[in-house]
Amino acid sequence: MASVASLTDLVNQQLTSALSAARPEASADPLLRRSDRADYQANGILALAKKAKANPRELATEVVSHIVTGDLIKDVEVSGPGFLNITIGDRAITGNLAARYADDTGRLGVPHAEHPGTTVIDYAQPNVAKEMHVGHLRSAVIGDSVAQLLEFTGESVVRRHHIGDWGTQFGMLIQYLEEHPHELDHEAGEVSGEEAMSNLDRLYKAARRHFDSDEEFKTRARRRVVDLQAGDPKTLAAWQKFVDESKIYFFSVFEKLDMEIRDADIVGESGYNDMLAETCRMLEESGVAVRSEGALCVFFEDVKGPDGNQVPLIVQKSDGGYGYAATDLSAIRDRVFNLKADTLLYVVDARQSLHFKMVFETARRAGWLNEDVTAQQLAFGTVLGKDGKPFKTRAGETVRLVDLLDEAIDRASAVVREKAQDLSEQEIAERGTQVGIGAVKYADLSTSANRDYKFDLDQMVSLNGDTSVYLQYAYARIQSILRKAGDVRPGAHPELELHEAERALGLHLDAFAETVAEAAREYAPHKLTAYLYQLASLFTSFYDKCPVIKPAPPRDVAENRLFLSDVTARTLHRGMALLGIRTPERL
Ligand code: ARG
Repeated sequence: MASVASLTDLVNQQLTSALSAARPEASADPLLRRSDRADYQANGILALAKKAKANPRELATEVVSHIVTGDLIKDVEVSGPGFLNITIGDRAITGNLAARYADDTGRLGVPHAEHPGTTVIDYAQPNVAKEMHVGHLRSAVIGDSVAQLLEFTGESVVRRHHIGDWGTQFGMLIQYLEEHPHELDHEAGEVSGEEAMSNLDRLYKAARRHFDSDEEFKTRARRRVVDLQAGDPKTLAAWQKFVDESKIYFFSVFEKLDMEIRDADIVGESGYNDMLAETCRMLEESGVAVRSEGALCVFFEDVKGPDGNQVPLIVQKSDGGYGYAATDLSAIRDRVFNLKADTLLYVVDARQSLHFKMVFETARRAGWLNEDVTAQQLAFGTVLGKDGKPFKTRAGETVRLVDLLDEAIDRASAVVREKAQDLSEQEIAERGTQVGIGAVKYADLSTSANRDYKFDLDQMVSLNGDTSVYLQYAYARIQSILRKAGDVRPGAHPELELHEAERALGLHLDAFAETVAEAAREYAPHKLTAYLYQLASLFTSFYDKCPVIKPAPPRDVAENRLFLSDVTARTLHRGMALLGIRTPERL
């Protein structure tokens, strides 16, 4: 693979050797940062001076004497109490981007991580027979982007959609279906996602009505739960109908979200049934869990209720039933020992943090997790309405995710239509969808996951500001520039002197690799959105200051500017794809 060393890395290497040439006995990190004063500033001399008991300014001057200036480091200057200001040569900037441009794998020369591992990521986990809401949106959007970021760095990623497909609530539904056997009779493909959901909703409401008003139905429904847990084939067949109907709905929503979810990766709570008894036995035999009032419990020093008593994690209830914790603990065993993961990641609402804290601690005590195999919840905050309260309809109900997405698409289509010059109706509809879904995803990804954010469609589809629409327009604009350039094609000319705006753009383009690495390492897609937003802004000021087509610059300058534009477009495209967002060629 054609991986390209970044300018930052190359400068870092030179500085590291200059530091160790000046003080061979003490090692130091140059602590290189992008800076306003110069292209880079190195701040590591202070720490080295401390270690070596030297005067920082004198040491800095000495370090400079070990730096060979040339194409890469054009200039280096001591500044302040021992910082180094570094200026990169134009030739190095253009040359580096040319190497990225030549990488025909679409990776822009970004190398893989040195020691990739295996991550199982648990995300996009709606519940059977229930509507999807904004919480499910966050898990799906963040999870999809993190999975793609990790894969891009070379990590082996196993996706797991831990759907809620098991539990006592199914007794009522199954019993109702048993008594109204033809309710869900249809061939796969015959109903839309919307229809599937409304079928489920209708059945749920009817079952609920019976359950609340008819004592005998209630008894029959409770017996169904026992049959379900015992694996009675007829009961399981009815349960499967609900799961299948729900999947029709889930897949329609994921498709609307323009997200690829594979059936094989859907391993719901029921997928671990066979392991539950064994999980409990292992925990009890090792003493990690103890019987308390008939239930199998794990206790924690620091988890206490309002009365000051410890609140346990209940692995098995006193009636023998298994709950959410038993399933998650069994899933950990599966992911560690069968899927051979070294990292388990859970993209789940922050409101479940205590659950995961207890589950992970239990797994550590059992020895299933340790220094080599770690688990982490990527906890996300709540989606708020414009009023700053958890997002609800006027009637105080949870908002259906589909309604929200449809509204985003409508708003975005209006924006696209208003700006559309040469788009057909069909193109407007298609772009409107890409812009609307992109807007929702971007808004979700551009705040750090653990924070709450306001769902504000007006802001999300705005053309100005930190939105996906702004980035999509920047991309489409570059495509239009490339079309208008006619037979002048993009071409790198490292011999040309660069304008300040070109240098700023070029150095930022070079930082794509380290940004992606950091966003993947920290599970932080918002670092990538911030990078891309800045990229689009730098492109705008470059395009303002450096004419590409009109007034026509000399041919080599035009080619080089088209080349810078095209590297920008490719970087935008690649970056947006890692966020799960489309970049239409025309807007
Ligand atoms: N289905 C759950 C919900 O809707 C999320 C599942 C999270 N994953 C897990 N392994 N517990 O809240």
